[in-house]
Amino acid sequence: MIKLDKQKRILKDSWYPAKVEVKSPKNKTYHFPIYHWITDSEVYCFREGTALRIFDDSNSHVGGHSRQQELKQRQKVFRSSQRRLAAAKTKQSSPKGTANHIGHICHMSWDVYAQGIPQCIKADSIQSLPYDVQFSFTKTAEMKYTAVTGLVELELIEMAELKKKWTHIDDISHLLCAHRTQVTDFVHKHWKEDSLFGYQFLNGVNPMLIRCCKALPKNFPVTGDMVSLHGGGSLADEMMKGNIFLCDYKLLDGVQPNTISRKKQYLMAPLILLQKTSDNKLMPIAIQLKQKPAKDNPIFLPTDSEYDWLLAKIFVRSANFNFYEVSVHLLRTHLLAEVFTVSLLRNLPMVHPLYKLLMPHTRYTLQINVLARQLLISQTGVLTRFAASGGKGVITILQKSLSSLTYSSLCIPDDIAERGLKDVPNFYYRDDGLKLWEIIFRFVKEILTSYYKTDAEVQKDSELQNWIHDIYEHGFLSQASTGIPQKFTTVDEMIKFVTMVIFTCSAQHSAVNSGQYDFGAWMPNSPVTLQLPPPTKKGKASEKSMLDTFPDIQTTVHGMAVMWLLSKQSSDSIFLGQYPEEHFSEEVPCQKIKDFQVELKRLSAEIKARNSGLDLPYTYLDPEVIENSVSI
Ligand code: FE2
Repeated sequence: MIKLDKQKRILKDSWYPAKVEVKSPKNKTYHFPIYHWITDSEVYCFREGTALRIFDDSNSHVGGHSRQQELKQRQKVFRSSQRRLAAAKTKQSSPKGTANHIGHICHMSWDVYAQGIPQCIKADSIQSLPYDVQFSFTKTAEMKYTAVTGLVELELIEMAELKKKWTHIDDISHLLCAHRTQVTDFVHKHWKEDSLFGYQFLNGVNPMLIRCCKALPKNFPVTGDMVSLHGGGSLADEMMKGNIFLCDYKLLDGVQPNTISRKKQYLMAPLILLQKTSDNKLMPIAIQLKQKPAKDNPIFLPTDSEYDWLLAKIFVRSANFNFYEVSVHLLRTHLLAEVFTVSLLRNLPMVHPLYKLLMPHTRYTLQINVLARQLLISQTGVLTRFAASGGKGVITILQKSLSSLTYSSLCIPDDIAERGLKDVPNFYYRDDGLKLWEIIFRFVKEILTSYYKTDAEVQKDSELQNWIHDIYEHGFLSQASTGIPQKFTTVDEMIKFVTMVIFTCSAQHSAVNSGQYDFGAWMPNSPVTLQLPPPTKKGKASEKSMLDTFPDIQTTVHGMAVMWLLSKQSSDSIFLGQYPEEHFSEEVPCQKIKDFQVELKRLSAEIKARNSGLDLPYTYLDPEVIENSVSI
């Protein structure tokens, strides 16, 4: 152990020591990872880099005491119970707070943003976060710049306050001029086509809803006579062969739609039936926009008039935006990553192998989520101001999503099997995702089995058990039905869960975040809200009724600017498998990190080679663009 004593200067000088190396008289070098801000003149202790589980310290009074002290200090910052919360409030009003491990005075705890959703870090503002978890100067500056200049960069500033309706589809095209990508061009050109509509359920920003359909839900009364199938087979036959797929947005049923500028907005809970054709395309064959079958809730078909069918697809795409943004993106990646992070900071000392393994996968997550709460879902947030689900709706979607979330749906091999999607052709999210899961799994296994040889060692590591239990309690609200482990009994259970954590924070977030501008910039492909109800009868829709249904110019432009901000990478991003902070110093984990990087590089080359032959490359799970953590 070393002590670091930064002397007091008249001017405030905060230090961020990376590491300390100490050479012994016998010429052996000892590494001490620090990677913490020291902002005051307290003396701080740091352990040597060798990872130690809690029972490795059981015979060392100094070691045991130091990990206890460190956790005690951090738990003052990352508190949990309501009792402690009250104590923190009392302390906050006292003139002098308590310095935490890193010398920054602040008090935080798990906070309840709303009942029934994962708990989060208690922080009123980003300034109240400890320095260690705040953005770097570069990241802050760039993000502010993008947020402020988003509209300017997209040349949309003049349109941002226009509450007028769109009067011609070509006017919307002008929005794309300032910033185009290969995908925005493709989407703009093909947005009306059924094949792109189907494709996006596999490789768009929400690959999480589609499932194989072996029996129609009772509330979706599609009959064999109604649909004309590609290839001419019967619906029953095609279903038996595994060629029929269902997307059911039932979770949106009953969600209160937003009111924007005193105007009611419309959010459907559609059901979509799709067929895999003999030329390996996924084509929609029927759409019902509301859950309850009724005369005024027609089942739309590709054989209907052009605008009946197109408008039905537009209502699906708008429902999809609201569903994926809140459930698939915010809840299943951002909010869960925050739970993993807060639990890690509260329960694992720096010397713990799991701290060393997971800390890089928590970078910037707390701050980006504080910002998301402030800028996206607060009363003045962008979703509240412009999206159909904004306001109450967001919270309802989060609550319903959490109560129906399962552990298996967070583990891609189980998820793909459960949804019956093993054999669907051209499903790149699955292909790349499964390979990434395997690579991460092997890496986690090799690192963790070098520290945990038996199940008994896992069971007796109380710090590790506290970590998972906090996640179960504060993240999944002690809902046993989720299947989330409450404790680890075996080495295998721990490896699978840690793999899921790294996969969720890195690959899964990239898959559901990075394509937002690509698929959403062309508004008709992903309207953030719709301003008229869907047709209740066929044969009435027209180009004009479609334009009247679209969000107005202001809403379109703000929606576009948010997707631009959320899709823009920072120049100080750290990509999957890169560990510039050297928390590990032993030979085994250092070698395993190198092996991990080699495997990721190989996969990246494989994905690039595959993409070179595709009209629309799938890039979001290329390890080269996946960040280590949820940071945007
Ligand atoms: Fe994100």
